[in-house]
Amino acid sequence: MRIEKFNSYKEMSEFVGDLFASQLLLKPDSVLGLATGSTPIGAYEHLVKLYNEGKVDFSKCTTFNLDEYYPIKQDNPQSYYYFMNEHLFSKVNVNKANLHIPNGSAPDAEAECKAYDELIDKMGGIDLQLLGIGENGHIGFNEPASSLDPGTHLTGLTESTIAANARFFDSADDVPRHALTMGVGSILKAKRIVIAINGEKKLDAFNKLIEGKVDTMSPATVLNLHSNVIVAFSN
Ligand code: PGA
Repeated sequence: MRIEKFNSYKEMSEFVGDLFASQLLLKPDSVLGLATGSTPIGAYEHLVKLYNEGKVDFSKCTTFNLDEYYPIKQDNPQSYYYFMNEHLFSKVNVNKANLHIPNGSAPDAEAECKAYDELIDKMGGIDLQLLGIGENGHIGFNEPASSLDPGTHLTGLTESTIAANARFFDSADDVPRHALTMGVGSILKAKRIVIAINGEKKLDAFNKLIEGKVDTMSPATVLNLHSNVIVAFSN
């Protein structure tokens, strides 16, 4: 685990954005694992800037997002589909046919999850996966629990995650209670992982992660089982 500490959110975001830009430079048809939440926004802004300067080309890449609320419609401004369009996809030259986000309105959640994992495998796996982290240590919507699911699955949100995400909705009552999320096994299959952590509120989750122990009650600690992880932290 490589730990990179930054003095500002901006520096951290530029570092994370540059990792993705260099990944695309080295392998234009990379498979990228993407994340939502407030933390990755700066990295996406940096990538858009690099794209506008002609320094990065997204035309050949494939992307898979970590998660999506369930149920939710794609045109709901709180959907992660909407988020990705707003912050990245509509601003760079991605090929829309190559963008994948779990479908929050799939009638059969289980079939959707199975197909999602199969497609990631078919594309050769994820080359570089971006993660955020919850205050409770969650990655994607893999919430603290006595055991963790390996593959993409339908899951319930914990009260603390509903409370944390209520800031994006009119009220906590409007936050969907379920989500489709890549499992920790799907995440650990990525060839390289960068986890972006910002702010004092995440300090506890960060400290548990870098302690080196695996604890399902702080799901990000499973990253200690992976041999190519970068932890990018700013406070
Ligand atoms: P945040 O969310 O970046 O909005 O803090 C991260 C997460 O919950 O995974």
